[in-house]
Order: sequence, then structure tokens, then C-alpha cells
Amino acid sequence: MNLLILLCVLCVTFTGLSEGAGVLVDDLLNAPVGGKALFTTKLTTQEPPVTFSVVIWNFENTNIVTSIPGVNRTDPGYVGRVTLFMSTGSLELRNLTLNDSGGYSVNIITSDGGTQTGSTQLMIYEPVSNVMITTSSPDLVEFISSVHLSCSSSGSSLSFLWLNGSSEVTASDRVQLTGGGSNLTIFNVTRYNQGLFRCLVVNPVSNGTSDPVFLSVSCE
Ligand SMILES: *[C@@H]1O[C@H](CO)[C@@H](O)[C@H](O)[C@H]1NC(C)=O
Ligand SMILES: *[C@@H]1O[C@H](CO)[C@@H](O)[C@H](O)[C@H]1NC(C)=O
Ligand SMILES: *[C@@H]1O[C@H](CO)[C@@H](O)[C@H](O)[C@H]1NC(C)=O
Ligand SMILES: *[C@@H]1O[C@H](CO)[C@@H](O)[C@H](O)[C@H]1NC(C)=O
Ligand SMILES: *[C@@H]1O[C@H](CO)[C@@H](O)[C@H](O)[C@H]1NC(C)=O
Ligand SMILES: *[C@@H]1O[C@H](CO)[C@@H](O)[C@H](O)[C@H]1NC(C)=O
Ligand SMILES: *[C@@H]1O[C@H](CO)[C@@H](O)[C@H](O)[C@H]1NC(C)=O
Repeated sequence: MNLLILLCVLCVTFTGLSEGAGVLVDDLLNAPVGGKALFTTKLTTQEPPVTFSVVIWNFENTNIVTSIPGVNRTDPGYVGRVTLFMSTGSLELRNLTLNDSGGYSVNIITSDGGTQTGSTQLMIYEPVSNVMITTSSPDLVEFISSVHLSCSSSGSSLSFLWLNGSSEVTASDRVQLTGGGSNLTIFNVTRYNQGLFRCLVVNPVSNGTSDPVFLSVSCE
């Protein structure tokens, strides 16, 4: 049968069938830019091993790879960065970019004629790097000075946390956290605020910690 006609038939057949992860193990995967993702099917440990007559992987509206007996077709945008494992139907995707975020689906026909579908979501993040604190002035006078610490970092979908020694800094009437937690202001410092402050930045694929900043509080 003509490959294109087969693809159309399969698209029509499978549209709307996949709900949840289906035949796939994960319904959400996170991976860093430049990293790789493995879409694993639940058919990995089947005994005796399943054999496939057709495996089709799609990303949004792009057909990534199609394997039918005697023919493998990989989309030009994926040549060299995908591996289809014919023993399981699983797919590995490498050299990830932010553009690879989105929905993936697989359609499988096993050699006994059974059909399996699955869908999953891949989220790509820039890893956390260059976590740095800038501070107004680290030399403070008790009850008089206020201090502003600002944490910056490269990466996407960042969450910020401040550490005072090894304990987490929490907001109070004299301690203000703004900018999604990236800015810390301490009003009217006391001698107990003296110490090492660090900023911890986290996203779903990595984390990073700044060099410590020493806040020195002298008594007036
Ligand atoms: C298609 O790819 C699979 C997995 O890499 C391989 O086992 C199979 O021999 C290939 N078939 C053809 C016709 O190239
Ligand atoms: C994938 O990245 C590696 C280095 O991490 C590079 O050597 C390789 O050429 C890249 N492949 C593609 C297809 O971009
Ligand atoms: C991502 O997609 C945009 C628009 O489609 C394109 O301009 C850009 O070059 C792509 N980036 C990568 C790393 O492929
Ligand atoms: C830092 O920790 C000390 C002791 O653990 C505490 O007394 C002080 O209030 C903390 N300061 C801030 C700004 O969290
Ligand atoms: C800081 O101290 C000043 C002067 O004592 C006072 O007016 C102000 O309310 C204090 N601010 C906070 C947040 O405690
Ligand atoms: C955080 O602090 C930086 C540097 O002081 C400032 O430019 C920025 O506007 C602040 N952001 C917020 C939300 O307070
Ligand atoms: C930071 O990443 C390391 C691995 O690189 C991990 O072991 C650790 O649990 C992570 N910490 C947080 C707070 O996410």
C-alpha cells in the first residue's frame, strides 16, 4: 500500500482514540535544552516480546518517524537525533531545543493486528546557571539599616529560595520577598540577621546556588 494512503488511514483511525498516556509510561516528561528524552512504552517487558508491524510517532502535526514493514521514514528535522527501538516501540529524542516542547503521540500495530496508542507531553527547560546575588550594601548598622538582596539566574521557569546559613528565609514584618522570591529586603536589621546569605534557584530539570554574601551588622 502507498505509504501516504496508509498514513492517512491511520490518522483517521487513531484521531481521538488516545487519552491519557495510553501505551506510554509517562504522561509528562521534563528535559533540559541539549539533553535527551526517552518515551517509553509499556510494551517493554512483555513476554514473549511483542513484534510490531507499524510504529508511528508524531509531534503536534509533524510525523517524526514511521516504521512499516520494509520502510522507515524519518522527518528531515529529526534525522540524526531520534532512535526508534523496534523491540519496544519506544523513542529516544536527543539534542533537545525549546521547540521540542509539546505533545507527542504514538500509534502501534502489533504483528497480531492489535492496535495501541499513547500520548504524552514533553517540557523543555533552560538549565539553571549563573546564580548571582547583588546587594545594596553588606555593611549594616543595627536597627537603622535596611538591606536589599537581588538574585539573578539564567534558565527558564525559575523558583527562588533564600538561605540564611542553612535555614530558609521566610517573610515577616521586617523581611520582604518580592519579584517571585528573587528579591529579599530586610528592614531595620538586627544583630541576628548577621551571617551568610545564599540564593537557591530551582527549575524542573536543574538547580543552582549562588556564592554566599556576608551581611555584617554593627551595633550603634
Ligand atoms: C527500520 O528501523 C528499525 C529500527 O531501527 C530496524 O530494526 C529495521 O531494520 C529498519 N527497517 C528498514 C527497512 O530499514
Ligand atoms: C547533537 O549534539 C552533539 C553534541 O552534544 C553534536 O555532536 C551532534 O552533532 C548533535 N546532533 C545533531 C543532529 O544536531
Ligand atoms: C524554534 O522555532 C522558531 C520558529 O519556528 C525558529 O525560528 C527557531 O530557529 C527554532 N529554534 C531552534 C533551536 O530550532
Ligand atoms: C537568620 O537566622 C537567624 C538564626 O537562625 C535568625 O535569628 C534570623 O532572624 C534569620 N534572619 C533572616 C533574615 O531570616
Ligand atoms: C524601621 O524603623 C523605623 C524607625 O524606627 C520605623 O519607623 C519603621 O516602622 C521600621 N520598619 C519596620 C518594617 O519595622
Ligand atoms: C528586584 O531588585 C532589582 C535590583 O534591585 C530591581 O531592579 C527589580 O526591579 C526588583 N524587582 C522586584 C519585583 O522588586
Ligand atoms: C539539585 O540537583 C541535584 C542534582 O543535580 C539534586 O540531587 C538535588 O536534590 C537538587 N536540589 C533541589 C533543591 O532541587
